[in-house]
Amino acid sequence: MIGELMVGAGAVTASGYTYARRRRVRLYRELEGRLARISAAHAPDLRAIRQRAVPGFTDRLAVVTDLLPAEAFATLRAEAERLVGPERSFVPTHKKGGTVAYETLIGSAPAIVALYHSADLKGFISRVVGVGVEPTPIHDQSSLSVLVYDKPGDHIGWHYDHNFYRGRHFTVLIALANEGSAAGGLSHAELQARVAGREMAVSTAPNTVVVFEGARVHHKVTPIQEGERRLVLSMTYCTDPRAWWWQGVSRRLKDTAFFGIRALWT
Ligand SMILES: [Fe+2]
Repeated sequence: MIGELMVGAGAVTASGYTYARRRRVRLYRELEGRLARISAAHAPDLRAIRQRAVPGFTDRLAVVTDLLPAEAFATLRAEAERLVGPERSFVPTHKKGGTVAYETLIGSAPAIVALYHSADLKGFISRVVGVGVEPTPIHDQSSLSVLVYDKPGDHIGWHYDHNFYRGRHFTVLIALANEGSAAGGLSHAELQARVAGREMAVSTAPNTVVVFEGARVHHKVTPIQEGERRLVLSMTYCTDPRAWWWQGVSRRLKDTAFFGIRALWT
């Protein structure tokens, strides 16, 4: 009897999983169609960055100030400011801050999504890191997100960005807003990284782009203070965005910590 109940419960769980999985597959197929339409309709004019000189990348971290043309940047910033109700995440001792996920951005932030898929931006990042890169897949919640630091204490502790792909994996951050009482009117939320055996602080005034190989560069963001605000566009690119099956499982577990249990079905 108990054995039959267990078999029954197993069958219900398996069919529930299959149902949820099918729904996710359908959802992502639909999202990919929307992505192509968004990219076509909202592609930013980034021709100006084609000639932009790139810094060295020997330390696996590069900073470029004022990268985006003023008009494109203003559109992105306005779009990020309009986004409401970020999903609040709190992982003790690791990360505290708001995160607007890729799916939400596809529905409500076309300029941000089009920027991520822009051939000119992809070309620029490829020149910085010295190897051709592609956006990471739509089902990866870290591919594209807007990070919101607006509550005192919002921060991210020391960590590496895990690489869930076969190729090398790069994190690209674009500061969209950064206001506070630190030097230069910026917030106290500062990106710090251990580079070449020493800690360095990266100042991220609006329109500063930071490119780094997060799986190899230990980094953190210091806490923001009362009345301060920092909005960051976070993107990931990869030299080969295919994943081995165990890498997919690890990614889903990590996404769960950041975005809740629904990430298990992506
Ligand atoms: Fe990170």
